[in-house]
Amino acid sequence: MPVFAHPRTSRPHLRTVSISGVGSYVPERILTNAELERMVDTSNDWITSRTGIRERRIAAPDEATSDLATAAARRALADASIEPAQIDLIIVATITPDMMFPSTACLVQQKLGAVRAAAFDIEAACSGFVYALDIGSHFVASHTYETVLVIGAEKMSSVIDWSDRNTCVLFGDGAGAAVLQNRPEAHGLLTTCLGSDGAKAGLLEQPAGGSACPATADTVARGLHFLRMDGKETFKNAVNAMVTAAQDALSRCGLTIDRIRCIIPHQANQRIVTAVAERLQARPDQVFVNVERYGNTSAASVAIALDEVVRQGRVQRGDLILMVVFGAGLTWGAAIIEW
Ligand SMILES: CC(C)(COP(=O)(O)OP(=O)(O)OC[C@H]1O[C@@H](n2cnc3c(N)ncnc32)[C@H](O)[C@@H]1OP(=O)(O)O)[C@@H](O)C(=O)NCCC(=O)NCCS
Repeated sequence: MPVFAHPRTSRPHLRTVSISGVGSYVPERILTNAELERMVDTSNDWITSRTGIRERRIAAPDEATSDLATAAARRALADASIEPAQIDLIIVATITPDMMFPSTACLVQQKLGAVRAAAFDIEAACSGFVYALDIGSHFVASHTYETVLVIGAEKMSSVIDWSDRNTCVLFGDGAGAAVLQNRPEAHGLLTTCLGSDGAKAGLLEQPAGGSACPATADTVARGLHFLRMDGKETFKNAVNAMVTAAQDALSRCGLTIDRIRCIIPHQANQRIVTAVAERLQARPDQVFVNVERYGNTSAASVAIALDEVVRQGRVQRGDLILMVVFGAGLTWGAAIIEW
């Protein structure tokens, strides 16, 4: 008998939502700090000491977000032993869609051959995967769908100003995916908590290209189609929001941090991860970090990390995983999964 509360299944009309398969994909091309030293006024020492990042992956010019997403999805489907035609719904979390419309999820649906699936995108920046997990899980819990494919995918290199040292060293490309199903014998998602604060939207944004500031020759000349960020303020907000979200999720389940086998924080910056872990009084061995290899892959970050945690055998059936995320919006969230 579990000794923690189960907010989902304590409501009898909802069923358990399990993650029956995970997968991830990162592009082959590795961009190292040494290469960035030749592109902007920066140094390997500055990047590693301020962020922990040593390298990041960059998609090929002909590789779009939907390609990264499709590659990750194929691995997750294989892991779950299901065929594309079994998928009822595809949700893609991204801030770097192939184009404004149609949705990247529709393009993934076609590339996978998921002929029965409905498909839509959601946008919650770096929090996107936990948002998508939450949305997707409700379709399964409520008996609406049997199989939901949730993907976090980004080609951040397409919105980076490669002459801006404040941002170009931080981000990378990649995708991660999870298959959600009700498997009566399996464990599942215990809870999700989401939050947002639109009053701080200006801390991290891509100003042009939408309806407020459509792309023109002038917006392009002024670099308004690139990501912009107030790094210091974003840092402070990230730590506070991630700590609060993690604590909310734990208290909803009647859990304390020592019960968590693996904490998967959004991989933006090693210093953010360390500060969050310290405030939560987590042991270093509980915390998964791969930011040194991929940088910040936004919505893909915790999805890639979840796949690596599983592949590396860092969790066994029954172990508890805490995912905690933060991103532009501002948005934040946490999820607790009984593996
Ligand atoms: C961006 C970030 C790494 C900067 O680290 P920091 O410790 O706050 O850096 P500081 O602001 O103290 O220092 C900035 C100085 O370093 C310089 N600097 C910025 N990027 C640099 C780089 N790549 N190489 C060398 N110097 C750099 C700045 O120009 C500034 O110089 P100045 O003081 O002469 O003006 C950090 O603020 C951060 O990680 N923020 C959150 C980013 C994030 O996670 N965003 C996504 C959230 S989902």
